[in-house]
Amino acid sequence: MSKLFAKKQLSVLLSEASDSEKGLKRTLGAGSLIALGIGAIIGAGLFVRTAAAAGQHAGPAVTVSFIIAAIGCALAGLCYAEFASMIPIAGSAYTYSYATLGEFIAWIIGWDLVLEYALGAATVAIGWSQYLNKLLTNVFNITIPYEWCHSPFEISDAGVRGIMNVPSVFILLLLTMLLVRGISGSAIVNNIIVICKVAIVILFIFCGWQFINPANHTPFTISPDAGTVTMHNGHVVDYSNFFNHGWGGVLRGAGVVFFAFIGFDAVSTAAQETKNPKKNMPIGILVSLLICTALYILFSFVLTGVAPFKDFLKAGGEASVAYAIDTYMPGYGWLSTLITVAILAGFSSVILVMLLGQTRVFYSMSNDGLVPPVFSKLHPKYRTPYRSQWMFFVFTCLFAAFIPDSVVGDMTSIGTLFAFVLVCVGVIVMRKNNPDAPRAFKTPWVPVVPVVGALFCLTMIVSLGVENWSRLFVWLGIGFIIYFGYSVKHSKARKMMD
Ligand code: ALA
Repeated sequence: MSKLFAKKQLSVLLSEASDSEKGLKRTLGAGSLIALGIGAIIGAGLFVRTAAAAGQHAGPAVTVSFIIAAIGCALAGLCYAEFASMIPIAGSAYTYSYATLGEFIAWIIGWDLVLEYALGAATVAIGWSQYLNKLLTNVFNITIPYEWCHSPFEISDAGVRGIMNVPSVFILLLLTMLLVRGISGSAIVNNIIVICKVAIVILFIFCGWQFINPANHTPFTISPDAGTVTMHNGHVVDYSNFFNHGWGGVLRGAGVVFFAFIGFDAVSTAAQETKNPKKNMPIGILVSLLICTALYILFSFVLTGVAPFKDFLKAGGEASVAYAIDTYMPGYGWLSTLITVAILAGFSSVILVMLLGQTRVFYSMSNDGLVPPVFSKLHPKYRTPYRSQWMFFVFTCLFAAFIPDSVVGDMTSIGTLFAFVLVCVGVIVMRKNNPDAPRAFKTPWVPVVPVVGALFCLTMIVSLGVENWSRLFVWLGIGFIIYFGYSVKHSKARKMMD
């Protein structure tokens, strides 16, 4: 039993860090943290999942869904930051929990992060494919045949069944090749992409405002009598279901658009590179969340004002923003093209970060003996975990090519929400178990902040429904089989206890 909670020695962790990571310099101020956060979070959540949440669950009240998701994120983010600042090396929730909460919890978090990173990358790749198709159609008058840009679980209005989503595989392949060769993250490119992303969101809000039709905002939440609609992908939505109308729908919408905030944990993982983290860390997390939340609320207000929410179940179910502009904002074709190009670039950077994050977590897990050594095998020339990168390429492709974005997106949300709950609870446990360990940043008002944060995240998990819970259980079940079948025999921390 005690071995289940074997902890990685802090001294081992630190010496590994100095071997591999060369002491990180404290160079980031609040401004850089805010840019980092915004760059990591604006992506398919906003440009794809907003329309799905509005169309199927929340209607125009998706704006409130964003507020609920943001509160959960802000509270969990403050806990994440304390976690991150306790262990003075770069890493993820997996690394921190190994040293503080023990191996078993670390395994669950590491395994769960696959849902966040790999499935998150798959979701964004599917969104990329939708916008690529839009660009090809609008600019070159070419349309990729339905069957080659959809999963087998989707059927078009004309009765064509998808076979495989080829463009999403293409973008994953391209970015995996880049990652295998090793890219040194260019701050300039990142900043340009951040500026582009924010600029197109503001541009859409600004230009779309005059096309808002107040009738589209009434009623604010979906009425239970709204009937049933067969979606563009063959899925039937019944609005009389509890989570498809009214405030139940708003809650479920929060679980769906939670995806749009994923990635802000990137801010907290930079705790060790931050100047004066006590002050700058909460500013970085809260201000980047605040800016994004404000942008998201305005953006979704305009989107659901420009197009009736039911459109997002039909033709507007894909590349929804470009659809809304093309259909309801005459004379703004240029904006649709501009937004589409910026979205393709912006999505690529999000996918890149997620694929990189995924192999990084498995690299650490492999070094700890919890997953096979192949995940930490470095390329002889490029010094990147190339085998791991290719294996995750195949894994991510299986989802991007053959599963609809709604399923993969919600699995990403539920997996990340679950990790956040563990992190919130973890902060309370650590305060009890390691009260004197130095913390560069302390979560304010413990236990109120972690308890309320965990409750918000749990509520969103509940709202995501039985199907998503079962997927999470199955995923965790597979994880337990691997953990007890492989990891316990190979764990280095356990061997040190023998
Ligand atoms: N938050 C990121 C996105 O919306 C994952 O694409």
